[in-house]
Amino acid sequence: MNSIDVRHLTKTFGSFSAVKDLSFLVPQGEIFAFLGPNGAGKSTTIKILTTLLSPTSGEVFIEGKSSVTQQNEVRKSFGIVFQDPSLDDELTAYENMELHGVLYRVPPVIRMGRIEEMLRFVELWDRRDELVKHFSGGMKRRLEIARGLLHHPKILFLDEPTLGLDPQTRSHMWQYIVALNKQEGMTIFFTTHYMEEASKIAHTIAIVDHGTIIAQGSAHDLQVKTGTASLEEAFLALTGDAIRDEDATSTDQMRMNMRIRGRK
Ligand SMILES: Nc1ncnc2c1ncn2[C@@H]1O[C@H](COP(=O)(O)OP(=O)(O)OP(=O)(O)O)[C@@H](O)[C@H]1O
Ligand SMILES: [Mg+2]
Repeated sequence: MNSIDVRHLTKTFGSFSAVKDLSFLVPQGEIFAFLGPNGAGKSTTIKILTTLLSPTSGEVFIEGKSSVTQQNEVRKSFGIVFQDPSLDDELTAYENMELHGVLYRVPPVIRMGRIEEMLRFVELWDRRDELVKHFSGGMKRRLEIARGLLHHPKILFLDEPTLGLDPQTRSHMWQYIVALNKQEGMTIFFTTHYMEEASKIAHTIAIVDHGTIIAQGSAHDLQVKTGTASLEEAFLALTGDAIRDEDATSTDQMRMNMRIRGRK
């Protein structure tokens, strides 16, 4: 069965289409990387897949359930690590886990055991009673992964889980994730801007640009298709080297400032 089944998904914000007629399948137990330049529509897609946004049109099935009409069932089947931090800084690591366990109705008899299991998994058990506001960026990210796993999901969504982390922490993080995939057959759907991570870890890579998939396959397939020697080169060959939306605005701003300066 497919863990994720996306059919002709479109999402518009006013007159702007962030996601355009997107279709793809992720088989159970696969590690799937969703890569694309800034503003390509990755986070918007993840938000729709995880029921936080509703699609403008198209269908999404998560473990066979519709993410529009069967939201409660869908929510039980996945864990998520968001692009933006979402921990409560004023609570301890343990309290953040407990809150999530209560929200997801993990029965009290198994909740404590699970919290310990997950905090040990990400090597934070000894720090469980410290306030999250005193944690480093890497510790917070590990805690978010532990929290996303607390209710034993079938799918883990990770939106740039390793952003801003040092190479050691990034390497550990992917080791945990690969272990979950191997031991539990957990489907992993992730985004990253670190191409070498995707190249090493993903079974399948979809390159998305301007809201649509422009190429899909293994890292090797994409390199062969573009005649390049690395995923990073393949990515640039497919998506071009122009800087995207946000930066385009700042480039316009820069040009304008230069014009103003020129006038003085
Ligand atoms: N709520 C919203 N209202 C209007 N536009 C939005 C909204 N959310 C996203 N967008 C726009 O949709 C496009 C896709 O955004 P999205 O966050 O999905 O990109 P992304 O691929 O995750 O980029 P990044 O790599 O920078 O995280 C962007 O142009 C963004 O400005
Ligand atoms: Mg994003």
